[in-house]
Amino acid sequence: MKRTLIACPNLSLDRTMRVERAFLGNVHRSIESDVRGGGKGVNVARALKCMGRDALVAGFSAGRTGHAVLSLLEDEGIDTIATGANGETRSCLTVLSEAPPTVFNESGPDIEDDAWERFESTVTEQLDGAGIFAFSGSLPPGAPAESAARLIDRARARGCTTICDTSRAYLEVALAAGPDLVKPNLSEALALMGEHGVESMDVPPNALERAREAADALRALGPKTVIVTVGSAGVVYATEDETRAVPSPKVEVVNPVGAGDCFVAGLILELASGASLHEAALTGVAMGAAGCETFPAGLVDPARVRELRALLKG
Ligand SMILES: Nc1ncnc2c1ncn2[C@@H]1O[C@H](COP(=O)(O)OP(=O)(O)OP(=O)(O)O)[C@@H](O)[C@H]1O
Ligand SMILES: [Mg+2]
Repeated sequence: MKRTLIACPNLSLDRTMRVERAFLGNVHRSIESDVRGGGKGVNVARALKCMGRDALVAGFSAGRTGHAVLSLLEDEGIDTIATGANGETRSCLTVLSEAPPTVFNESGPDIEDDAWERFESTVTEQLDGAGIFAFSGSLPPGAPAESAARLIDRARARGCTTICDTSRAYLEVALAAGPDLVKPNLSEALALMGEHGVESMDVPPNALERAREAADALRALGPKTVIVTVGSAGVVYATEDETRAVPSPKVEVVNPVGAGDCFVAGLILELASGASLHEAALTGVAMGAAGCETFPAGLVDPARVRELRALLKG
């Protein structure tokens, strides 16, 4: 089976912490804490690894934090190829309490001079022999707006199936590059349609209906398939032939951050073995739900994925 290559430019040192209650302006003491290498593409690779499938992650590494991230990833057995950048790799913090999660994300190292070109060549070298190319997550400051689009062009030219999960201007430009699949969440999709809200974990009323409209509208801009994820409500996918919702099973949520990345890992698993888009969406939904049940982002229990997948018949 061909390799999966994941561009995750904005690697991070991810800390997940549970506190009793969270209030701005207070000192908090953690009752549970986890630290590991992160970034959305790393979460995808982690979820794939849980399911027994390896992937190669490409990202920027900067400063001491970059070194720490690379050694944590090595310890975890996640293959990573790093491009050096000035400054410091970012740190991200997820605080879990009684309320929905609170997330603090640094923006990332400055991408100056020829750093982006070096990253692009590193990724391009790895594209030969890759079956699936995924572009995942945010971009460090200074990356060109067409970052994702350029890599998608290159991957497509080498015959890869291309998946894009980024947001804002990067997603807007990437749509026109015609990737095989884009996966915004509902608020990312609505933002592209001019509706800017706060990025929250709440599911708005009529979420699946709005996701349906958004998926159709974004598909008209270039991608073959658009899948809009809507947290606990599930997903809506739009292709040339149909627009269809797949509801999510109910789960006890421990940490919903990274559910979208687990969903993408589920898609990759199925698409790599030639399954239909509908099968891929079902496995993605099972993986997204299973990802909510674990404390660190991107971690899934494979037995639980199979159990949840079995609940989602056809
Ligand atoms: N609370 C939940 N209960 C069940 N399934 C969920 C829940 N939250 C997410 N999922 C599943 O995971 C998928 C992706 O979740 P979501 O829409 O939150 O992605 P996201 O915002 O891209 O997440 P992230 O960017 O943190 O990875 C959902 O479409 C759904 O199938
Ligand atoms: Mg997401």
